[in-house]
Amino acid sequence: MMGFGNMGFEFLAFKAMLMILLLFFATVVGSNEGYVSVIGDPGMKSPSVRIALEAWNFCNEVGFEAPNMGSPREADCADLYCPLIRDHLDGSLNGSRSKCEVHQKVKESDNKLRTGDPFPIDDYKTYTNPDLYAVEKELYLGSLCELHDSGEPWQFWMIMLKNGNFDTNTTLCPENGRKVSPIITGRKFPCFGVGCMNQPLVYHNYSRLVSSGEDHVMSSLTGGFYGSYDLDANLSNGVGNKSYFSVIWEKNLSSGSWIISNKLTTSSKYPWLMLYLRSDATKGFNGGYHYEGRGIMRKLPESPNFKVKLTLNVKQGGGPNSQFYLLDIGSCWKNNGEPCDGAVLTDVTRYSEMIINPATTSWCRPDNLVSCPPYHISIDGERIYRNNTDKFPYSAYHLYCSPGNAKYLEKPYDICDPYSNPQAQELVQILPHPEWAVHGYPARKGEGWIGDPRMWELDVGSLSSRLYFYQDPGTKPAKRVWTSLNVGTEIYVSREGETAEWSVSDFDVVVPTGY
Ligand SMILES: *[C@@H]1O[C@H](CO)[C@@H](O)[C@H](O)[C@H]1NC(C)=O
Ligand SMILES: *[C@@H]1O[C@H](CO)[C@@H](O)[C@H](O)[C@H]1NC(C)=O
Ligand SMILES: *[C@@H]1O[C@H](CO)[C@@H](O)[C@H](O)[C@H]1NC(C)=O
Ligand SMILES: *[C@@H]1O[C@H](CO)[C@@H](O)[C@H](O)[C@H]1NC(C)=O
Ligand SMILES: *[C@@H]1O[C@H](CO)[C@@H](O)[C@H](O)[C@H]1NC(C)=O
Ligand SMILES: *[C@@H]1O[C@H](CO)[C@@H](O)[C@H](O)[C@H]1NC(C)=O
Ligand SMILES: *[C@@H]1O[C@H](CO)[C@@H](O)[C@H](O)[C@H]1NC(C)=O
Repeated sequence: MMGFGNMGFEFLAFKAMLMILLLFFATVVGSNEGYVSVIGDPGMKSPSVRIALEAWNFCNEVGFEAPNMGSPREADCADLYCPLIRDHLDGSLNGSRSKCEVHQKVKESDNKLRTGDPFPIDDYKTYTNPDLYAVEKELYLGSLCELHDSGEPWQFWMIMLKNGNFDTNTTLCPENGRKVSPIITGRKFPCFGVGCMNQPLVYHNYSRLVSSGEDHVMSSLTGGFYGSYDLDANLSNGVGNKSYFSVIWEKNLSSGSWIISNKLTTSSKYPWLMLYLRSDATKGFNGGYHYEGRGIMRKLPESPNFKVKLTLNVKQGGGPNSQFYLLDIGSCWKNNGEPCDGAVLTDVTRYSEMIINPATTSWCRPDNLVSCPPYHISIDGERIYRNNTDKFPYSAYHLYCSPGNAKYLEKPYDICDPYSNPQAQELVQILPHPEWAVHGYPARKGEGWIGDPRMWELDVGSLSSRLYFYQDPGTKPAKRVWTSLNVGTEIYVSREGETAEWSVSDFDVVVPTGY
């Protein structure tokens, strides 16, 4: 079997190879100095495709599989194999071509596996519960995609799709991790009727070879996933007024990065949808999940010592309720500061999200302290209480809400939605503001939005160490280790079909050398 390290240097013809090498050196001596990447695909420069897809119901589970779709975990893992043509190694670059091939690591029969199907190898358990089967399928697909190029193994980028419909007549979702029946709540959730929590139709354009550039000497891969939540959609007749999503990957031949282009459209039956590109942990629990998962982060970043780089180009916003996240970071720790262990009654998912849609307003206001964290930590480390109306930066926050299993909350407080995660959750949603701009985030609404594509270098580590997260009084502060770093949008309940469209490239997560 061909080692991945070799392939990295064989994937393009000679000319392109030189260019990639030059770029590589340019980055090393550039702003990366003193930092190393902790992800398997630094800057998205890998010639190989490693992309998986997961679809979640309202509480990040499966519930029921969509008809004929199998368990909602798929992967596209393809290696570009280009044996060098020796004749061209003398340096004459004219007419140099190599015959490249695509080597698929995941077969259609793997992607089609559905609950109850035995796995082709014995190491994975065949569950009849769709929630448990999906977890096992992710681990199985991960084993097919895993690369051991250097250091710790890694598997794939993860595309996450989530349906915000919630049928409170079902027992599919627990309340703060606790099974309850029936669900009695004053909260309103979208649901058109029985079956509204369905999984999507997912179609897959397997990675294929494309040649481009002068004389078609540059070879690379392209492919995509697409589909709809509307089970009666026939996409060969166009999208019409159905929900839709697509994710397409292709190489930027001048930078060598993947360009991941995303599109998400809501419909009247599916008015609340999410689509993220996730950089997840290669092992352990991912943010928002309580089972072993697979991903791309070989080493987990910990506050305050890490940065995230990415280029984001938002082409369509997705309407006023599109909570576009220039990073949603997710982790899990208990209210006593201990790391999570899968016990859903005491584990708490912690999220922080910077929303860059300029239409998003601040719910945290002097006259609505319930949506503010108890205090803000200023740039120089001062605690500013939310009742300090002269100094508290209300407009730096969209909203804060508390975990439903916290015992010592300061009044006034709002409990986060107790149903939309497998366990209790805490949310700190922030907005562009000079308070965060010191860490490389947008300072003002509109920055990085439509028509303003940017390459960001976000000091996520510093910012996340300044956020308030609930802990029981007197307990040792939790280690803020982040298992998921996501970019994408959550189009929150929208009356009309709304469309968001964006691309992500150059994504990297870096930590100080030797850290
Ligand atoms: C490549 O360039 C060399 C020297 O410039 C020339 O002799 C040769 O014919 C060229 N080969 C092709 C295939 O164009
Ligand atoms: C839930 O049950 C109530 C009472 O039977 C019914 O009115 C409602 O339509 C049901 N909701 C869904 C989504 O089926
Ligand atoms: C899938 O392939 C078809 C046919 O080549 C193309 O028209 C479509 O744009 C592709 N879609 C995605 C999401 O890759
Ligand atoms: C979708 O529409 C195409 C073109 O009208 C038709 O050939 C095909 O049978 C339809 N597929 C389904 C599943 O209805
Ligand atoms: C969706 O489109 C179909 C066919 O064009 C139309 O009959 C239907 O009324 C539309 N539904 C909505 C909610 O707009
Ligand atoms: C490709 O990369 C170059 C160099 O970084 C950049 O200027 C260009 O905008 C990128 N193209 C696309 C389509 O992202
Ligand atoms: C503001 O809040 C802090 C912390 O909750 C409290 O100690 C203080 O008394 C409050 N000040 C006023 C003026 O309400």
